[in-house]
Amino acid sequence: MKKLYLISVMLFLMACQNATQETQMNEETLYRPLLHFTPKAHWMNDPNGMFYFNGKYHLYFQYYPGASVWGPMHWGHASSEDLVHWEEHPVALYPDEMGYIFSGSAVVDHQNTSGFGKEGVTPIVAIFTHHDMDKEIAEKIDVETQSIAYSLDEGMTWTKYEGNPVIKNPNIRDFRDPKVFWDETRKQWVLILAAQQKVMLYTSPNLKDWTYSADFGEDVGHHGGVWECPDLFPLPVNQGEKQKWVMLVSINPGGPNGGSATQYFIGDFDGEKFTLDEEFAAQLKDDNNYWVDFGRDNYAGVTWQNKTLENGNKLFIGWMSNWQYAKVVPTEKWRSAMTIARELALQHNEKGYRLFSSPVKDIEQSIAEEISLNDRSLSKALTSIYKNEEGLGALRFSFALDLEENQSFEFQLKNSAGDHLDLGLDATNNYFYVDRTASGKIDFEKEFGTRVSIAPRLGNEKTLQGEIILDKTSVELFWDGGRTVLTDIFFPQQAYTEIVVKGGENVQFKQGVIARLK
Ligand code: FRU
Repeated sequence: MKKLYLISVMLFLMACQNATQETQMNEETLYRPLLHFTPKAHWMNDPNGMFYFNGKYHLYFQYYPGASVWGPMHWGHASSEDLVHWEEHPVALYPDEMGYIFSGSAVVDHQNTSGFGKEGVTPIVAIFTHHDMDKEIAEKIDVETQSIAYSLDEGMTWTKYEGNPVIKNPNIRDFRDPKVFWDETRKQWVLILAAQQKVMLYTSPNLKDWTYSADFGEDVGHHGGVWECPDLFPLPVNQGEKQKWVMLVSINPGGPNGGSATQYFIGDFDGEKFTLDEEFAAQLKDDNNYWVDFGRDNYAGVTWQNKTLENGNKLFIGWMSNWQYAKVVPTEKWRSAMTIARELALQHNEKGYRLFSSPVKDIEQSIAEEISLNDRSLSKALTSIYKNEEGLGALRFSFALDLEENQSFEFQLKNSAGDHLDLGLDATNNYFYVDRTASGKIDFEKEFGTRVSIAPRLGNEKTLQGEIILDKTSVELFWDGGRTVLTDIFFPQQAYTEIVVKGGENVQFKQGVIARLK
């Protein structure tokens, strides 16, 4: 009897294991993105410590190697030569007696200001938040402090500084996510971190001794949730000689479509404090709606520390999820991906300043095949423009549409299970949208599939330019040359196999290319 019982328990456990293996295999083919970085296994959130050195872009990330849910935070590590193909490396930073390793940044200390460099080796210095869980549980205030670690092998292995923390807690409960940059004009390091409903700035000659210099933000911008993961960097205005400083601040919750999102401010930085540009301050008063991405799945994004493109623009990557449901999205082996790496540019016109985003150019090297839609007019109400029975996989769909006055249109991605993801322009209300209410699995969280993400159309050109990056479970929409961006994730029950245009009677593709990406 006992033997029989044991056998049935074993059979049951084997069946469970097979079921898990099967789900994980399905998950791999159905949901693992082709172009976006995902960890091989387990939980990931914010991008951290991004620096560029010896031809390689390094990306660290909030990582829990023990499970596919958030836990004791480590820094995972990956690197890439083109920001598209990523190689994952061993865990870079482990939690210790001072706490979990929360978000932060890394710098290349070329002049060895820190003194960590030995025998001519350039040190890479990481600056991160130590989050003390014991203090959190004991409901103490001084839970978070800032610490540093250095690497003498291009970011592969790290030694924590014995003098940690380098910034003690000034009696502020949320005090985290330091982003550091070298201020060439003043020959100093500058650190920006998030402190509840504001950011705080510090300066240092050597990355070890920090002096507080200023606060920003208590009375501007959005305050629907805690401020997190700030960034501060200059960008050329309209690609010209003039520069302005851009500050990114993530907030959670309080995003334009619910949950987490990243807002931005335009201003000036004098080496100590950030001042809002007067014109931008007026823009904010008029319409407080300045988001790096209006979608629901781009959070905690920051820029690559020491890499400025030839045109002066910066490279950015964000976490492609939302705290509202990140922990329950239907993948078990790993959880979440990064956005596609993007180029950030600053434009100014008669309406003021706007931050523009576009996918990195390197994506073009992954093009396997191109289908042209040039000059195709969509004469029917429903026109199929692309089909692939094996699944759409990863695609870049770029187009220019000639629109008539008040002309709405919609692209629909669909499969034979009846799932569809709808996206397009609602011309009556002048907004773009992504509707994932019938996109597939949606019931793992109450709001995931019950509301439509919307974003204002900020341009009014007759020709609408669009670029869509699709990768199995995500769409990133760059409208009007990147003026309005929307990123949303979704989980179809079967791969989408077709793209149709709905309501397209008068829609004319001036230009259109669907590129299949490897
Ligand atoms: C943002 C964040 C950061 C923190 C980290 C913890 O998503 O909450 O503020 O450092 O995640 O994993």
